[in-house]
Amino acid sequence: MPLTERHVTPSILSADFSRLSSHVRELMDEGCRVIHCDVMDGHFVPPITFGPMVVSALRESLPDDAYLDVHLMIERPERHVAEFAKAGADGITIHVESTPHIDYTLAAIRDGGAKAGLVVCPGTPADHFAQADDLDLALIMTVNPGWGGQPFLRSQLDKIRRVREMLPDVTIEVDGGVNPTTGAECAEAGATWFVAGSAIFGADDPIAAYHEIAKAVGAE
Ligand code: DX5
Ligand code: ZN
Repeated sequence: MPLTERHVTPSILSADFSRLSSHVRELMDEGCRVIHCDVMDGHFVPPITFGPMVVSALRESLPDDAYLDVHLMIERPERHVAEFAKAGADGITIHVESTPHIDYTLAAIRDGGAKAGLVVCPGTPADHFAQADDLDLALIMTVNPGWGGQPFLRSQLDKIRRVREMLPDVTIEVDGGVNPTTGAECAEAGATWFVAGSAIFGADDPIAAYHEIAKAVGAE
């Protein structure tokens, strides 16, 4: 799947975990092609969420042409990326704050056959993106990582513009507080992938919410 297309990437963090595969299938039936999976280790961020076994189960619920976007909020991701790639992650994104070995870890992701992404927290400058060799995806957190349902940080819009200038061709993903209004602002600033958790799974009609965000950001 080409990363250059515009996508809303539903975050299953806010989904009903007892019916993850049916949530995912319903979204795929509506044209969604990217699912965002938030892996948290209880150290880099306080909560603990999913590991490679859930990634593997999710991958089995997805059609071949779908993309499983794995956002690692874990310390020392270099110790785990091979396992997540083997479990079926199509893309793996690591935090610049989580390891001193950025290029090594990005290379290990690619060696595992996945696309390599780098992500910065709201307080971390955008310059890190320029320092990484060969990036498939730049993720800009628009909340502090760890929880769904937090308000969008408007201060990050300038960072999105700056990264778009620095990296004209890279996929820029935004994550946190995305809804039709904030998503449209991110799109205008240069983002092309839009993670949405609570705005989709917290809605009375998650499918309608998905389409509303997709239309607002120009993804359909
Ligand atoms: C937060 C996660 C997000 C989260 C976003 O650390 O990285 O992917 O699910 O949730 P919302 O869309 O509710 O802000
Ligand atoms: Zn995320």
